[in-house]
Amino acid sequence: MPDWQDLIRDIPDFPKPGVVFKDITPLLADADGYAAAVDAMAAPWRGVALDAVLGIESRGFILGAALARALGTGFVPVRKPGKLPGRTLAQAYELEYGSDRLEIHADAVAPGARVLLVDDVLATGGTLCAALALARQQGATVVGASVLLEIATLQGRAQWDASVALEVGITC
Ligand code: PRP
Ligand code: MG
Repeated sequence: MPDWQDLIRDIPDFPKPGVVFKDITPLLADADGYAAAVDAMAAPWRGVALDAVLGIESRGFILGAALARALGTGFVPVRKPGKLPGRTLAQAYELEYGSDRLEIHADAVAPGARVLLVDDVLATGGTLCAALALARQQGATVVGASVLLEIATLQGRAQWDASVALEVGITC
């Protein structure tokens, strides 16, 4: 396990009893750890043709913006409801604890653009698959997804695999 993963701490019973929250704030606060984590997330995608990174609010912004810089692409925010000023596309999804909706500017991604989805955690997969649906609504080509860590017991990868074409990979 890379050293930087030791900087992610488990917080039991947050935000509600029975949920173990993955707190990445100690990792982000550590200059070397943050850099190593971003490097590790970027590594599989170096040399892959990409037009944009789509980062998912809110923790996906912190990693997605850094990844966009590392990979030399633009950054497109996928946001929680009511935050974007222009015309939006929306997609509802279920969370491990509750439900929510994601939005993207309708003109944020050109049809055929090659995009990488970025988030911090893959849990049930609801969030990432909602972002996938938004990108596809715009006619983008989703090249793959990059997440910092996966909670394998929640089987998000299965939902992802069921939602995407076989050639689309996920790295974490
Ligand atoms: C968390 C996490 C992922 C998502 C993963 O976001 O940051 O985005 O849940 O869960 P899933 O795979 O079950 O969908 P959350 O919306 O809780 O809050 P955030 O604004 O702190 O990112
Ligand atoms: Mg999130």
